[in-house]
Amino acid sequence: MGNLVTMDDLTNDDIVSVLDDAERLLPVAKGDIVLPLLQGKVLANMFFENSTRTRMSFETAMKRLGGSVLNFSSVGTSVSKGETLYDTMQMIDGYADIAAIRHPRQGAAQYSADAVGIPILNAGDGAGNHPTQTMLDLFTIRQAHGTLEGLNVVLVGDLRYGRTVHSLSHALVRFGASLTLVSPSSLKMPVEIVSDLKSHGAEVTEKESLDGQISNADVIYMTRIQKERFPDEEEYAKVAGIYRIEASSLVGAKKGMIIMHPLPRVDEIAPSVDSTEFAKYFQQAFNGVPTRMALLCRSLGVEVPKKVK
Ligand code: NCD
Repeated sequence: MGNLVTMDDLTNDDIVSVLDDAERLLPVAKGDIVLPLLQGKVLANMFFENSTRTRMSFETAMKRLGGSVLNFSSVGTSVSKGETLYDTMQMIDGYADIAAIRHPRQGAAQYSADAVGIPILNAGDGAGNHPTQTMLDLFTIRQAHGTLEGLNVVLVGDLRYGRTVHSLSHALVRFGASLTLVSPSSLKMPVEIVSDLKSHGAEVTEKESLDGQISNADVIYMTRIQKERFPDEEEYAKVAGIYRIEASSLVGAKKGMIIMHPLPRVDEIAPSVDSTEFAKYFQQAFNGVPTRMALLCRSLGVEVPKKVK
């Protein structure tokens, strides 16, 4: 109960209800209202891989709701002495009420959820899934377009190793999106994911070039080539820097179109885009706070009041 390992753990109604909770929590996320809904609760942030936004927004979310946070990192812990994930998670089961876990191994979040009694939130498992990122992505899309239904979404970059787009594409087709998948042939969306997307009745088009894809898009979701997942440097060098959006690329974009990126960006989005009306990636990063607040409340069985004041 309370786990979030993949987007299949949430129904469409659950998703909408978490997004509604997140919206009501916005003033708390900004620090304008104090609402200690999670006072006395402890979150363990279990990061076995680098993170800036995910770890810090989980921590801010927990603290803004009056809870506290244990920060684990694989540096400076018994992991370097050879402790297994199973054993580490047994400790956390006793120390915390809930855990967010990021791990380089695909399946590590499910493994942890099976190993402990506290709720587990998957904060990224290798090239697998990243459902809490998807929730803040959906929050950002709904904020901009007023709906999740029937949008044209272009996902660009490393669709093979990028866990954010694995979870997001699945969620989007459940709300009737049409998807254009833009990647080099070596980094295409895995076939089993593409067939899952199609099985939801989605219109899915695969392309290698971004040319001509911008004018019809409601959302362009850029991603970083996941260098750390490549078996060798040479393969990475072949695709590094392959897609880049500049402010001048956006002439002809629809009004209201948004550019998103889970960040960190490398060179996919030029700084010239930052000051355009389309850039939403920093707002998106902030949206991690209200969205993760709502997810923490849900997993801990704490109701977000219908009126937050
Ligand atoms: C992403 C991740 O870790 O998968 N970052 C994030 O959580 N915002 C994307 C990435 O690292 O490229």
